[in-house]
Amino acid sequence: MKILVTGGLGFIGSHAVVELLDNGYEVVVIDNLYNSNIDVVDSIKKITGKDFSFYQNDVCDLGVLEKIFNEHTIDAVMHFAGYKAVGESVKKPILYYENNLVSTLHLCKKMIEHNCFKLIFSSSATVYGEAKILPITEECEVGGTTNPYGTTKWMIEQILKDITISNPNFTVMVLRYFNPIGAHKSGLIGERPNGIPNNLMPYIVRVATGELEMLSIFGDDYDTPDGTGVRDYIHVVDLAKGHLKALEKAISSQGIYYYNLGTGTGYSVLDLVHNFEKVNHVKVPYKIVERRPGDIASCYADPSKAYKELGWRAELGIEDMMRDSYNFILKQKDY
Ligand code: WQD
Repeated sequence: MKILVTGGLGFIGSHAVVELLDNGYEVVVIDNLYNSNIDVVDSIKKITGKDFSFYQNDVCDLGVLEKIFNEHTIDAVMHFAGYKAVGESVKKPILYYENNLVSTLHLCKKMIEHNCFKLIFSSSATVYGEAKILPITEECEVGGTTNPYGTTKWMIEQILKDITISNPNFTVMVLRYFNPIGAHKSGLIGERPNGIPNNLMPYIVRVATGELEMLSIFGDDYDTPDGTGVRDYIHVVDLAKGHLKALEKAISSQGIYYYNLGTGTGYSVLDLVHNFEKVNHVKVPYKIVERRPGDIASCYADPSKAYKELGWRAELGIEDMMRDSYNFILKQKDY
């Protein structure tokens, strides 16, 4: 089977491409390198020993999509391409709504024109907004999003639901990620945000290498065990494997399905700092500062539906995540 992976050179997309190739799928990647690097192509080939087709283009480009679907018989699509920085989305809403919505609409249009009816969509736990109950299940209310990025994910979920209603052949697996971190054990692919990282894990690793001076912990007065924010961190390789399980189900199903991809365990900011220091034998200096606007105290999944219906659950633990994150950054910097 041949799978089109949009955003396939990105952090999560590249790990999904590795799992697809390792499991015998043929892969076609489209990526405009907005938040990725061309050298990821070689890294994926080095890890898997397999080749794949790559188009350095934008998913919004109907002509390129037409070309890809004419040159390849695509059996299913994994759609990772999209802008995903919460803070940037607040500053640039038009950019985020245009890119994330138009790319998805054009992709679905071309899929249907070319009789490709299986879509795995990269959604996010942000569609739940500030969850009223924990752990979060797929039945929890969605739509209380607090930033344009999260709202694009919620809007796209609505769009995809409407498409499945209009076209019973069209099958969608909506995968709601919690907090993906970590890296492939080879250290050849991982999370490489451009500029100063917004997210916790890429910041911690750069403090550990000395590239950044100190971690600022955004508040220690939340209603959590140690006062710092609690999140459901999931190893990116576990997340990638969840996509293959969702793909298997999509092939034999019709309609739209929603799954939380998390571990079900919440860790605080200080938990991560302490685990990182213990596993990697390195200090991570930090200071407590004001809360970050828009942050919530706790967010973690009830992942039981994915286990029951997909036969998937996270297998890697917090220490694997800490070790693999640091191993990646060290390989990148040749420390
Ligand atoms: C985690 C915790 C911060 C940085 C975001 C997106 C979400 C998803 C995952 C795409 C919080 C604290 C962070 C720092 C800190 N991405 N923190 N100092 O906000 O849970 O989720 O990434 O889908 O859409 O919203 O992740 O890593 O930014 O924050 O103290 O320098 O770490 O307050 O408690 P978040 P994060």
